[in-house]
Amino acid sequence: MSNSGRLTILSGIQPSGDLHLGNYFGAIKQYLEFIQGGHRCFYFLANYHALTSIRDRARLLELTRSTAADYLALGLDPERCSIYLQSDVPEVCELQWILTTVTPMGLLERCHAYKDKIQQGLSADHGLFAYPVLQAADILVVRADRVPVGQDQKQHVEVTRDIAQYFNSTYGEILTLPEPYIPQEVAVVPGRDGRKMSKSYGNTIELFAPDNEVRSQIFSITTDSASVAESKDPERSNLYAILKLFCTSEKSQAWADRFRRGGLSYREVKEAILDAFMQHFGPARARRRELEKQPEMVESVLRRGAEEARMLTRPLLREVRQAVGIPDSK
Ligand code: TRP
Repeated sequence: MSNSGRLTILSGIQPSGDLHLGNYFGAIKQYLEFIQGGHRCFYFLANYHALTSIRDRARLLELTRSTAADYLALGLDPERCSIYLQSDVPEVCELQWILTTVTPMGLLERCHAYKDKIQQGLSADHGLFAYPVLQAADILVVRADRVPVGQDQKQHVEVTRDIAQYFNSTYGEILTLPEPYIPQEVAVVPGRDGRKMSKSYGNTIELFAPDNEVRSQIFSITTDSASVAESKDPERSNLYAILKLFCTSEKSQAWADRFRRGGLSYREVKEAILDAFMQHFGPARARRRELEKQPEMVESVLRRGAEEARMLTRPLLREVRQAVGIPDSK
């Protein structure tokens, strides 16, 4: 790939629960593709964002550590991308404050994620409201061109663009406008109950759960009461939607035919999903067990990743401070 086609890619996940199929097919798979494509990639753990839903210090620390190991196990290669904790790059929070001063209230009031979380019973505190501004800072602080995310995060990337435009029209063309990257076919990964797979719905299939739990999660995918003999519509089947994630288009076509033909038991489809899952994630699951024994390795990857990110974020903040009239700190 020529240097001129090299993009800056950034994405992050909140360490607020165990990684699941939705995280993988909705985001991490795309992270890996951008690394393969030779782009400059920043993949971080949004632990400040996670504070909006976790108020248990031990749990947050543990999830932060384990999600970093999950990233490595899934093949995010620290030689080819920067992996870091949001909290290790202080320029993020500094930029966030500056961005809040150009962010209209109405822009945040329109955010679906905020409204959904309030509906689910999270308290309407300021952190939750300001969440998209912190996300904008994550993205803008490294001048990201593309942000691979699931469909649910599209609005947050659009809000980021709006905030960057408000900033630029006030202070000059300093911030780079990012674009979301959401491949059509994986935009929404369905959960076990057919709603979007999400830890807040408790309908996930976890990537690194013990074998027996993976099995019981897959076997609890909801189905209708159609008999084995009956013809089934694959397009209305949650099982088919999940199985398809693992299949080439020929293979999913063949399964679709079997659904329609009748004589297919849901049990057989569940076994096929379990097989495909273990085949796909088996190597990562083995690496994950190895990494459990090397916490210092994970620590050093995170330290290095933060240092790499700061090579970009420090000069950006210098430029932003200068533009808005805040003296340089050094
Ligand atoms: N809000 C994202 C999510 O819940 C996580 C996130 C935080 C993020 N900052 C980001 C994603 C920056 C992409 C870019 O999935």
